[in-house]
Amino acid sequence: MASVRDAVKRVVEHVPQEETQEQKDQRFRNLYSTPPDFKEIAALDAEFATIVQGRDLDFKDPRAVMQLSKTLLKCDFGLALDLPDNRLCPPVCLELHRPHWHAWCLLTTNYILWLKDLLDSTTYDTPGRKLVGIDIGTGASCIYPMLGCTQRPWYFIASDIDDESLRWAQKNIEQNHLQTQIKLVRSKPGDPIIPIESAPATDDVAFVMTNPPFYKSAAEMDERAAAKSLPPLTACTGAPVEMVTDGGEVAFVGRILDQSLALRGRIQWYTAMLGFQSSVAALVLRLRHHDVGNYAVTEFVQGKKTKRWAVAWSFRGMRPCQSIARGVTTGSLKASLPAHTEVAVVDFPAFEAISRFASGVQGAVSSLETAHWEWDTQKLEGVLKVTEKVWTRAWRRQKQRRMDTGSETKDRRIKENLGFKIQINVNLDGVVVRCRWIEGHDESAFVSFTGYLKTTAKNVYSELETATESEAPAEK
Ligand SMILES: C[S@@+](CC[C@H](N)C(=O)[O-])C[C@H]1O[C@@H](n2cnc3c(N)ncnc32)[C@H](O)[C@@H]1O
Repeated sequence: MASVRDAVKRVVEHVPQEETQEQKDQRFRNLYSTPPDFKEIAALDAEFATIVQGRDLDFKDPRAVMQLSKTLLKCDFGLALDLPDNRLCPPVCLELHRPHWHAWCLLTTNYILWLKDLLDSTTYDTPGRKLVGIDIGTGASCIYPMLGCTQRPWYFIASDIDDESLRWAQKNIEQNHLQTQIKLVRSKPGDPIIPIESAPATDDVAFVMTNPPFYKSAAEMDERAAAKSLPPLTACTGAPVEMVTDGGEVAFVGRILDQSLALRGRIQWYTAMLGFQSSVAALVLRLRHHDVGNYAVTEFVQGKKTKRWAVAWSFRGMRPCQSIARGVTTGSLKASLPAHTEVAVVDFPAFEAISRFASGVQGAVSSLETAHWEWDTQKLEGVLKVTEKVWTRAWRRQKQRRMDTGSETKDRRIKENLGFKIQINVNLDGVVVRCRWIEGHDESAFVSFTGYLKTTAKNVYSELETATESEAPAEK
């Protein structure tokens, strides 16, 4: 793990040109896995030195909180940020539990990290491609587009209804030379909430994101603060336009959901951060009501108490990996989680003939009528794409019938793209065959495929056992 000093050095001396996207992602992922040393940062940043006392920072002082955010953004992301005193400061410091400094991290970066993993796990392409995203309610900091553009070759349409915030956002974009990557849009409260008309019609929009105003009213904000319910108010509390919206965050994200029902696959992922756990369940209910089964729920933990949640949904078929789709430990949210996308199909005790086992499994799958099947003999994993349940007996029977009656060409059933990844993991305890649901809307297809895979793997294994027995020299 690199220290903050290293991070500063990297930014100041410019991150080496040869840094791969993977290394870059790793660097950002690890940034706050250990606590920053304020004394060390103070030695590197004169402005920070003026507000820190030794290794202590007064988190109740808005000036200190603002400066910490600015310093970390400068040191770790190479971003120069200017913010007015009367607008929300990116929540880098909502709460610090002094004995638990290691838990401290930039909350805003968590959303970007999750988004990257969501997008990377829902494409057949190599991660790191150019993408267009929309940030709704970008605020004076324009923080999400800034962080996104620093980490990936992303382009943003960033909206807000607040002129003051938009003025500062423009200033921040310009002083970071991001005018070609971030386009600001002024929305009016009654406008469609997703400014899709600002995205070039030819562009594939990869995601919508938002950190919405959480509260229904100023009174609710005060009540929650008084009851010490989440999220906590801090020195960074923003202006009413930033914190309060009619109907609260559920209504705000609900508007995105309503518009998404019309836009559907025009945008791959609709996502939102949430301040209250109850909002997750409410929004998932609405998604299910509209038969949107491809969704993800996660929680972002900061310190011991502070949590945020995020939901994402898609009308396209690519399914996120399990840790992204079901990234929640809160027991009460279990009922709100989407279907599993990864399972351990079958396991065997350790045995030697792994490559024969793998080639047996790969041979069986390659005999299916697949649209695509590629097996990596080094990694012992392969990706399979089909448009029908070609592994089932029912499919074989139907195919035979169609051939017998010559009706092959008249088959008008709607076909669905299905994608599965098969992995053979070998460890000291044994061999595990896993399956990941990559693409498709039909959960029963995934369940059925894992059943086929289990039977296939067991058959291959028992054939190997029989062969090994017959190859063994007879005892004298
Ligand atoms: C909680 S702040 C988030 C600011 C910034 N994205 C961040 O995370 O620090 C919510 C933002 O949404 C903006 N907003 C409220 N209603 C909006 C709407 N209908 N369309 C676009 N932005 C809106 C507010 O002006 C405010 O800047």
